[in-house]
Amino acid sequence: MTTFDFSGQTAIVTGGTRGIGAAITGAFLKAGATVVATYAGNHAAAQAFAAAQAVGAERLHLRCFDVGDYAAAEEFYRWFDTSFKALEVLVNNAGIRRDGVVGMLSKDDWDAVLRTNLTGSFAMSKFAIMRMLPNRYGRIINITSPSGREGFEGQANYAASKAGQVAFMRSLSKEVAKRRITVNCVSPGFIDTEFIGALPPEQLKAYQDSVPVKRFGQPAEVAHGVLFLATREAAYVTGSVLEITGGL
Ligand SMILES: NC(=O)c1ccc[n+]([C@@H]2O[C@H](COP(=O)([O-])OP(=O)(O)OC[C@H]3O[C@@H](n4cnc5c(N)ncnc54)[C@H](OP(=O)(O)O)[C@@H]3O)[C@@H](O)[C@H]2O)c1
Repeated sequence: MTTFDFSGQTAIVTGGTRGIGAAITGAFLKAGATVVATYAGNHAAAQAFAAAQAVGAERLHLRCFDVGDYAAAEEFYRWFDTSFKALEVLVNNAGIRRDGVVGMLSKDDWDAVLRTNLTGSFAMSKFAIMRMLPNRYGRIINITSPSGREGFEGQANYAASKAGQVAFMRSLSKEVAKRRITVNCVSPGFIDTEFIGALPPEQLKAYQDSVPVKRFGQPAEVAHGVLFLATREAAYVTGSVLEITGGL
């Protein structure tokens, strides 16, 4: 991986204890950042992730709350203010899928996906921006999905949430550009995590065949793109979507 230096910076990575988020957290720790990795409730996975960090474990902080709960997000940032002087980077990575064709999709599954993926990104970004504006510096990166652009069948709720993250990012990027805050999305293709591991084998094979490079991506390959967008040097990249999809 390219060498990055985030020494002296603090990053929040939502869903930062498993899958893609864990790779992003680990990459920031290796690059010298202090990282707050949040998660929803899988304490065992979070503890195992923390125990596995060979580099920067003393700079890793874990917090458990639901990003889709606006009041919980606000409470999290109150804790953040008591522990850290400034926030340089927010990665809105926490996300869920509840797949089903629209005719069979329950309102609960619609609400849960929109609430976590889209409302969560809004709440976390809103409170981050309030802390970045006075410092006239910040980097916000949303993890979206090609499903938001393509609209994969059986994923209307997920696709709507992921397209919504892109639209949200474009508006926010314009609002804060003058304050030297950039807002971008990373769109990973099929990445080798538990998130897609739950799909039926025939669907996995079809997805793999559809990728021009003929393999699933690795979480570290997504983390690399996120860290690039989070650098000070990426100051002129805002309002954009970086696709890490193996050419999908
Ligand atoms: N994997 C892929 O192929 C792929 C492709 C495109 C986009 N993405 C996107 O990449 C992101 C990460 O995916 P992944 O595959 O790494 O997922 P994952 O392995 O399922 O991990 C999800 C992480 O998000 C946390 N989380 C879930 N709901 C939450 C909530 N309501 N509040 C706080 N944290 C919550 C989980 O916490 P717990 O551990 O406590 O459950 C976990 O840490 C998602 O936004 C997903 O849409 C993934």
